[in-house]
Amino acid sequence: MYKVEVNASKSYEVIIERGGIKKCGDTLLRYFSPSAVCIVSDTNVAPLYLDTVKTSLERSGFTVNEFIFPAGEESKTPETLFALWRKLASVPLTRTDIIVALGGGVTGDMAGFAAATYLRGIKYVQIPTTLLAMVDSSVGGKTAVDLPDGKNLCGAFCQPSLVICDTDTLNTLPPQQYSCGMAEVIKYGMIDRPVIFELISKNDVDALVYECVCDKRDKVEEDEFDNGVRRLLNLGHTFGHAIERLSNFTLGHGQAVAIGMCIITRYAVNEGLCDASVLTSLLDVLKKYDLPTSTDLAPEDIAAAALGDKKREGGTVDLIVPLGLGNTVRKKHGTDELVHIVRQGM
Ligand code: NAD
Ligand code: GLY
Repeated sequence: MYKVEVNASKSYEVIIERGGIKKCGDTLLRYFSPSAVCIVSDTNVAPLYLDTVKTSLERSGFTVNEFIFPAGEESKTPETLFALWRKLASVPLTRTDIIVALGGGVTGDMAGFAAATYLRGIKYVQIPTTLLAMVDSSVGGKTAVDLPDGKNLCGAFCQPSLVICDTDTLNTLPPQQYSCGMAEVIKYGMIDRPVIFELISKNDVDALVYECVCDKRDKVEEDEFDNGVRRLLNLGHTFGHAIERLSNFTLGHGQAVAIGMCIITRYAVNEGLCDASVLTSLLDVLKKYDLPTSTDLAPEDIAAAALGDKKREGGTVDLIVPLGLGNTVRKKHGTDELVHIVRQGM
């Protein structure tokens, strides 16, 4: 079992433990008094884990309600959020009650936004069941829903009160989802935690989740509201988001980020900013998890789509550029430089 304490605007613990969901009721009792909870989950995760979580919470004295929505990014909308608000109000959940997000990043982001806004804010607990959610979205308090105009356009910073990562739940995750989570794990290794490359070769998932959560904790504690060091977590994301959109979401987020990391690393190597061995290590580890390393899309299209990035500020875009393995830097680039950068990175 690993435990990581996050001290942001709210302090909370991230517990990484096999079998953690079977005793989540007792775990919650260590932090909260028995109260009403609303478990938010999707139609893939609920049949697998809802009963286990519900039984454990009820045994520990919590009164359990549930809100289950159709699985998938298409559900991460204001409409689903509205239905969730209505559910919370109909229970009714009060200020001392708790939302429990049981699922991947879609569930966690939406349940977190409901917690940030319902009654002007109530507590929520994250129980992530995808690798991506364990290593990234469940920690750090970014919550959101999508608009037709773009992903995560409406949201709030709202830290959870507790995160329980039961890595046994990863056994049911479809292989492609696991690979997409590995892209984010590899990202941490590239940014500033080269030890992650060693852990990947040992296949120690719990230790990997722990290292990634520690890395995220450091960035969130230093820059909770995403104005500085936290932006390093966007390595590969500016071009990745563009590629994801241009593929009409036929590529998963992690697959697109994998290609985005390759583009910026090839660019850095070709510009003499970074040793070629870094690119070799990146390509090797991405291939190990069946992640793509290139695209047939035109550089001009990728650059144009990247201009829609949320991190664009007027005429500049922040890009995270590798200088070595586990050594990256945040650099502002003029929007007119993007085509050249993508061409260099293809
Ligand atoms: P997801 O929640 O849609 O889960 C992926 C799929 O796996 C879904 O079909 C889900 O039903 C299924 N699933 C989840 N756990 C399972 C399990 N244990 N066994 C079987 N199936 C399971 O997506 P995701 O990849 O977890 O997260 C992507 C979302 O996270 C995006 O909306 C993205 O914007 C968001 N995100 C947020 C942050 C943040 O900091 N808040 C960071 C990264 C990504
Ligand atoms: N997923 C990037 C962040 O939380 O900042």
